[in-house]
Amino acid sequence: VQPYEGKAKRVTATGKDEVAIYYKDDATAFNGQKHELFAGKGALNSQITEGLFKYLEAEGIRTHHLGRIDARTLKARKVEIILLETIVRFKVAGSLQKRTGLEDGTVVDPPVVEFYYKSDALGDPLFNDDHIAMMKLATPQEVATLRSQALAAAIRLKELFRRAKIDLIDLKFEYGRTPKGIVLADEVSPDTCRLRDLDTGEKLDKDNFRLGIGDLLTGYREVLRRLDPVWGR
Ligand code: TMP
Repeated sequence: VQPYEGKAKRVTATGKDEVAIYYKDDATAFNGQKHELFAGKGALNSQITEGLFKYLEAEGIRTHHLGRIDARTLKARKVEIILLETIVRFKVAGSLQKRTGLEDGTVVDPPVVEFYYKSDALGDPLFNDDHIAMMKLATPQEVATLRSQALAAAIRLKELFRRAKIDLIDLKFEYGRTPKGIVLADEVSPDTCRLRDLDTGEKLDKDNFRLGIGDLLTGYREVLRRLDPVWGR
């Protein structure tokens, strides 16, 4: 439904099949309990998302991305968002660390895919395939598509980040339905990925804000600076 205002973005319809996605400076954590403004975050995330989506398109992965409108607004294909967050994990961190008790940074091989029900009211609970079917969020065939598309995109992003000397620990995708099938939508940014320096493990993502351990903008700027020479825009 447009216009739609989320915690970090605002989506407005600009044409029959197009939307404008405005990237806000708001950062939230713990389902919005923690909230702060970081002047310039929106522009940074729009640039990082745009570059990553262009890279994925060049790798044969379909996204909703169409172009740029201004410094913090991207143009995208209108989609029907599937109410699932698809998470791919290459190393243990965050909620997987809590769930398993394994040490942060333990390699997850093969990568683990998880689905969370996109519901602020419920705090985005972890769903298995039966829960997804029961709630009619996606068909079993769509779930299989989400899993394979998410793994394919995540593996390509992991390789790109590695070239930027960044370790992709885990990330979150959202997908949308179009008349021509399911495409990657929403954003891919340091808000939605865990990104750490490949050598030192220094956190370059939203964990700096979630955990209150470092400067969010410094990390996001560093991610963009390192990606710029490697993603071939
Ligand atoms: P988690 O360890 O808290 O489950 O997070 C896994 C990944 O998903 C991490 O890269 C952050 C991202 N993520 C979001 O993008 N949005 C969310 O609401 C949550 C909880 C996680």
